[in-house]
Amino acid sequence: MKAVAAFPGSHEVRVTEQEDPRISQPDQVMLRMLDIGICGTDKEICTFEYGTPPPGDDHLVIGHEALAEVVAAGSAVERFRAGDLVVPSVRRPCVHPGCLACRAGHQDYCYTGDFRERGIKEAHGYLAEYAVDQERHLNLVPRDLREIAVLTEPLTIAEKALGQITWMMQQRPPWLDPETPGEERGEGLSALVLGIGPVGLLGAMVLASAGFTTYVYSRELPPSPRIDLVAAIGATYVSSQAATFADLAEKIGSIDLVYEAVGHSHFALEALEVLGTNGIFVLTGVPGIQAFVEADPARLMRDMVLKNQVLLGTVNAGADAFASALRNLDAFRRRWPAVVATLIAGRYPLEQAPDLILGRPAGIKTVIAFDAP
Ligand code: BGC
Repeated sequence: MKAVAAFPGSHEVRVTEQEDPRISQPDQVMLRMLDIGICGTDKEICTFEYGTPPPGDDHLVIGHEALAEVVAAGSAVERFRAGDLVVPSVRRPCVHPGCLACRAGHQDYCYTGDFRERGIKEAHGYLAEYAVDQERHLNLVPRDLREIAVLTEPLTIAEKALGQITWMMQQRPPWLDPETPGEERGEGLSALVLGIGPVGLLGAMVLASAGFTTYVYSRELPPSPRIDLVAAIGATYVSSQAATFADLAEKIGSIDLVYEAVGHSHFALEALEVLGTNGIFVLTGVPGIQAFVEADPARLMRDMVLKNQVLLGTVNAGADAFASALRNLDAFRRRWPAVVATLIAGRYPLEQAPDLILGRPAGIKTVIAFDAP
C-alpha cells in the first residue's frame, strides 16, 4: 500500500510503498483511511525537528488526524463492524506497571514519557491506505459527520482543556454552580484565544459555544477568511498589529481565561501579564527552539499568588474529549453551518501531501483524501 513517510536519516519526505497491515489479534480492527488532516506537528516532523520512527525503522509514516472506515474486525471486537466510520485517538499507553495514568486508560496523562503516538512518536501513523488498531483506541463517528469528522482530533485539544478548566473554575470559586449546563459554563466570563490557526479557531468555537465572551488575538490583519470566521461565531478579533496586550486588557476588562494556541513564548509571557484575578492560562502550543526572552518572573509569581491564577499545560486527549468533540462538531454544524463549511480548505490526493505539509498552509484545515480525484 501507499503511505507518506519522513526519513530522518536522509531528510526525505515522500510517498513509499509499505506492506499492507494485517489483523493479528482478536481485538484489532482493519481500517481504510478516508481523510487525514495535516497540522503544524506534521510540518515539524517533516522538517526533522520532532517525531521518532518506530524502533528499528528508518522512517515514520506520518498522519495523526484521521477519519477511517472499518473494513474488517477481529473476533473479539464488539463495538465496530465493517462500514462503520471511526476516528482513532493518537497516543498509546506505556508498558510500565507503575504508570497509574496509562494503566487506567488515560495515556494522555502518561507519567513515564514512554508512550507512543501514532504518526508522531515510535508508531506509524495514518497517512497510508490502511491501518490496524485496537478497538479500544477507536471512536465511533455518526455517518452524518462524514464530511467534517476529520476535524475531531484537532478539536479534542480544546475539549480536553475545557473539561479541565470548567472543573477548576467551578470547583474553586464557591459562587459558581458546578451543575451549570455546558452551554452556560462560560456565562459572564471572558476568554482570550491567542492564535488564529486551526487549534485557535476550534478553541474559539468551543469557548464561544460554552458561553464565554470570546476574543481572538493574532498578527493577521483583515481582510481574511479566518477573521470573518471569528466574527461569524460571535467572537471578536483583535490584531496584534493594531493593539497591544495592554490595549486588549483595557478593552476586555478582567481576562478570565487565556487559551494559547501558537506556541510562541514571548507572546505567551506578555499575555500572562494581563491574566485577570482567578484567571486560568492554558498552554496548548508546543514551541520549537526560540530566541531567549526577557521576563520579570518575580512579577509573574507575585501576580499568580495574589490573583489565585492557574497556569495549565495540556496535551493530547482521552476518550471523553473525543466523545465531546464529536458532539460539538454536530452542534457547530447546526449552529454555524456556513462557518463549518469553510473549515476544510481543500481535499488533495496523497501524492501532494509532502508539498502541502512543507508549504504555507492555505485556508484553515488542509486534508489529504484517499478518494480525492
Ligand atoms: C497532537 C497530539 C500530540 C501532540 C504532541 C499534537 O499535534 O494532536 O495528539 O499529543 O501533538 O506530540
